[in-house]
Amino acid sequence: VCSSKVTPYQNFNATNDTAVLKSAIESKGVDEDVITAILVKRSNEQRQKIKAVFESTTGKTLEAALKKALKGDYEDICLGLLMTPAQFDAHQFRKATHGLGTNEDVLVEILATRSNKEILEIKSVFKAEYKKDLEDVIKSETSGDFTKALLAMLKANRDESTVVDVALAQKDAETLFEAGEHRKGTDVNAFIDILTSRSGPQLSKTFQQYATVSKNKLPKALQMELKGDIEKCLIDIVKSAYNTPAFFAERLHLAFKGLGTKEAAVTRVLVSRSEVDLKRIMEEYKAMYSISLHDHIVKETSGHYQKILVGLLGTN
Ligand SMILES: *[C@@H]1O[C@H](CO)[C@@H](O)[C@H](O)[C@H]1NC(C)=O
Ligand SMILES: *[C@@H]1O[C@H](CO)[C@@H](O)[C@H](O)[C@H]1NC(C)=O
Repeated sequence: VCSSKVTPYQNFNATNDTAVLKSAIESKGVDEDVITAILVKRSNEQRQKIKAVFESTTGKTLEAALKKALKGDYEDICLGLLMTPAQFDAHQFRKATHGLGTNEDVLVEILATRSNKEILEIKSVFKAEYKKDLEDVIKSETSGDFTKALLAMLKANRDESTVVDVALAQKDAETLFEAGEHRKGTDVNAFIDILTSRSGPQLSKTFQQYATVSKNKLPKALQMELKGDIEKCLIDIVKSAYNTPAFFAERLHLAFKGLGTKEAAVTRVLVSRSEVDLKRIMEEYKAMYSISLHDHIVKETSGHYQKILVGLLGTN
């Protein structure tokens, strides 16, 4: 079953795409519809080939040409689609940690949902592009238990097997109960250890077993025991382990709620999940919020930005 929305284009020819993009960029008034049509109907791997041909035939990078021709959220999403997944995530880390304030949600979202291999790639791309170790940036921009949890996830040693060990789930559930609800104060390290090292399916089983030791659900227990960034971080890990597409659906919904849409979050989720599980996210969205993601995007966004988002959903 394919759960992505963006798939490789069958009649792909990077030379042709380059010619079409070049004329769309250079046309009087810039033809955004043509740019959108190509970007959303090519896989990331195909976009990398177009970038290479564009640069070798025009002598400038496609990114530079688009930066000059486009603006705003539409420019951001086009440039995001041209990055490799690891470049895109490294760039998100940079944006989330550079300058005033830190966007903690972004750090957790990425680390909780990428594979070990992907995390290792992000670290190496980050180091190459920004000349700093991601660990050092995390240490200087975050603090306390939250830093510990992020560093644990950056080690990229989460178990990735799909085999569930029921006895271990029971033991972990008891450990979590003892570390939290059953004592005065909280042993956060026990939570961090278990939540950052077990596989998603294993954690799901642990959450089920938790019901046998406590009358509270685990997210509720975390809410009672912790506060601040570490609370949100561990709850996000629990949610994404339990149902990753539902976790992203909630992220998108939050981005549309309140005053003004948080376009950066919408762009981040659609770009990074378009070849992973966007179809499942759309299904969860509809089930959770009784409005389709498509309709919500159309309601909350506009112009070329709206068109490219809808193009990524493949519902246009
Ligand atoms: C590429 O462009 C050439 C010339 O316009 C055309 O003949 C060919 O069919 C195109 N190839 C693809 C794969 O679209
Ligand atoms: C792509 O199209 C160009 C013409 O635009 C043609 O010369 C070239 O052979 C094609 N490449 C492939 C791989 O089909």
